[in-house]
Amino acid sequence: MTTKEEKIVDQLNRPLRDLRISVTDQCNFRCSYCMPKEIFGDDYSFLPLGELLSFSEIETLTRSFVKLGVQKIRLTGGEPLVRKNVHELVERLTHIKGIEDIALTTNGVFLPKYAKQLKGAGLQRVNVSLDAIDNDIFKGMNGRSVGVKPVLKGIEAAQEAGLLVKMNMVVQKGKNDSQILPMARYFKEKGITLRFIEFMDVGTTNGWNFDQVVSKKAIHDLINSEMPLEPIDAEYFGEVAKRYRYVGTDVEIGFISSVTESFCSSCTRARISADGKLYTCLFATAGHDLKSLIRSGATESDIDEALKLVWQARRDRYSDERTEETAKKRKKIEMSYIGG
Ligand code: GTP
Ligand code: 5AD
Ligand code: SF4
Ligand code: SF4
Repeated sequence: MTTKEEKIVDQLNRPLRDLRISVTDQCNFRCSYCMPKEIFGDDYSFLPLGELLSFSEIETLTRSFVKLGVQKIRLTGGEPLVRKNVHELVERLTHIKGIEDIALTTNGVFLPKYAKQLKGAGLQRVNVSLDAIDNDIFKGMNGRSVGVKPVLKGIEAAQEAGLLVKMNMVVQKGKNDSQILPMARYFKEKGITLRFIEFMDVGTTNGWNFDQVVSKKAIHDLINSEMPLEPIDAEYFGEVAKRYRYVGTDVEIGFISSVTESFCSSCTRARISADGKLYTCLFATAGHDLKSLIRSGATESDIDEALKLVWQARRDRYSDERTEETAKKRKKIEMSYIGG
């Protein structure tokens, strides 16, 4: 049986600190690098409602994860805010002792509707995805011809509600690399942290190849030549983004460089898909079925024990080992399902 506060490590001595919870596999966008509309069309079978973990089931699992070391929770999807009443889940999670940080990753469009409710329930911060500040380029990327304005309104609503906002921009060569400087200038002026994400080979449907990746170094050098940058320390062990500051200001930017400078050696993240599978890597090919376990009447200590065994057996370091070949051959789970 697991004792009350047992902290565990995996086979590569990495502790379990973060839990990324996908609350839905659906999204109102069809970004080509994530849910290309040719594949995620009208006839695509998303998870039926009954297959999704209920908020109560998520709470039960989270309590066990916290006992094993989890301190940080991220709610994600698909687009988490297409699921009804996400604030109720936030409220439940806020009450779990040991959780230090609850955040949500969103495309921002529903924030004008929900930001206040989420903040009221205890959410501290949101990461908002935006891939271009140019209306036409953004419309072309999100697959739904949504302009920049609804996202900017979402950011404003989040800030007005008192949520801390960071931005995420996935950079894909030939699609939005022209937007690196305009985005940097725009968010520097606003005083909002912008993180540039290297285009990753998640899933099998986004047509990824190395040629479409703009490296962290290239993005850094481009920005640095116009607006000098200096590195700053990570906020916590295993932080995904490398942080920098515009010299002479307190405005930050970050780089998430899974392809050219991988960070598996400090990866403390577990993921639960919307239907309750546990994945120990974003690039996993299979998960562990926690929903069946929980629905078969498992006790709290059964769940603790199952999670512990999975984490202790973990060896994942996909990005450290990535080659063009593995990227193409491996049958990976789609990002909208596994939860970013
Ligand atoms: P903060 O807690 O605000 O630093 O958030 P975060 O950067 O951990 O989370 P977010 O949801 O904003 O994710 C930003 C990008 O990092 C997304 O593209 C994620 O897919 C990617 N990412 C997050 N965790 C991992 C990871 O463990 N491995 C890889 N390869 N990418 C990750
Ligand atoms: N490569 C890099 N980042 C991606 N995201 C979605 N798909 C990819 C990909 N193929 C990003 C989203 C969001 C975060 C959760 O993951 O833009 O910011
Ligand atoms: Fe939706 Fe985010 Fe995927 Fe775009 S990247 S399709 S907004 S889940
Ligand atoms: Fe962690 Fe897998 Fe990402 Fe490496 S590739 S940092 S092991 S999730």
